[in-house]
Amino acid sequence: MDHPRTVEPTEATDPPGTPRERVAALADALQAGLVGHAALVERLMIALLAGGHLLVEGAPGLAKTRAVKRLADGLEASFSRIQCTPDLMPADLTGTPVWRPDRGVFEFVAGPVFHSLLLVDEINRAPPKVQSALLEAMAEQQVTSGGTTHPLPDPFMVVATQNPIEHEGTFPLPEAQLDRFLFHVAVGFPDAVAERGILDLVEREQQLEMTSASAAPIRRLTVAEIRAARAEVAAVHLAPALKDYIVRLVMATRDGSAGDDVRAAIEHPVSPRGSLALAASAKARAYLSGRAYAVPEDVAMLAGDALAHRLGLTWRAAAEGETPRGVVARLVERVVPL
Ligand SMILES: Nc1ncnc2c1ncn2[C@@H]1O[C@H](COP(=O)(O)OP(=O)(O)OP(=O)(O)O)[C@@H](O)[C@H]1O
Ligand SMILES: [Mg+2]
Repeated sequence: MDHPRTVEPTEATDPPGTPRERVAALADALQAGLVGHAALVERLMIALLAGGHLLVEGAPGLAKTRAVKRLADGLEASFSRIQCTPDLMPADLTGTPVWRPDRGVFEFVAGPVFHSLLLVDEINRAPPKVQSALLEAMAEQQVTSGGTTHPLPDPFMVVATQNPIEHEGTFPLPEAQLDRFLFHVAVGFPDAVAERGILDLVEREQQLEMTSASAAPIRRLTVAEIRAARAEVAAVHLAPALKDYIVRLVMATRDGSAGDDVRAAIEHPVSPRGSLALAASAKARAYLSGRAYAVPEDVAMLAGDALAHRLGLTWRAAAEGETPRGVVARLVERVVPL
């Protein structure tokens, strides 16, 4: 586990800016530290604004940690990181009551989960008990230990990573727990141009570090600003026709209205949590684009990352090479916004 970081407040002399301007500046700062990964940056920002958690899937070395660390650098909120291993215990995550002989009492020593931004690396290497302790904390915003309930910080955001190639010694997340994540984002390998960009970016950073020319200080988004932005996101207009579009997309995973092939491929359809996730994230995407109303594109662009991990395919469909993401893509093609 990395050393947890608690943040000193930034100076009060910075220009204020509206919450939306501050959020946009954070998104820009995040993107400036990454080559490509625009979708990941957008999903991170949306999760922050919608109060959701992110599951990021990708091979090692694709800047997953880097992206989350940069987000942490841009937030005036505490950050912690856990590397999951098969011998991890739930208390390693949540904390544990410790006997204080001087006072004759048990005192709860909070674990790394008590931070506003939590990076959980290789969540599928943690044993099921640890996974469910984490997922429970995520769903309830609290931890119960020794009969006492301890509230988690607000905001509280988990970014969990998963390595798709390493299956040995892993515990796949149960479907019911996957549903707790707002998005499941897959990050892919860079192309040659991006690869070259990464070399240049890291070289520039190293040179800056050597000359100890400190980079321009970033102004961190405060908790108050995050809350203000969240309130504005909640007020973004989601037209009735757009709500119907979301409902029809989700219903199509249950009733065959987007074709019998889709219905036949699906074993577990999307729950109402899926439509709620899509509605909340479409609003946040609209807000990031500077709109006070969501449009069908907000829904269509996010449907894959918001719905695919909530779908279970039949074994036959899986054997035929169907993927949840492919099925959602077909839904989006066939269900047209009115
Ligand atoms: N798209 C990218 N933009 C900027 N830097 C990148 C990018 N991809 C990789 N890197 C660089 O590659 C190195 C590895 O990144 P990082 O440690 O964040 O990977 P990771 O996805 O967390 O890997 P792991 O799964 O092994 O933890 C870092 O030095 C990072 O700067
Ligand atoms: Mg990493």
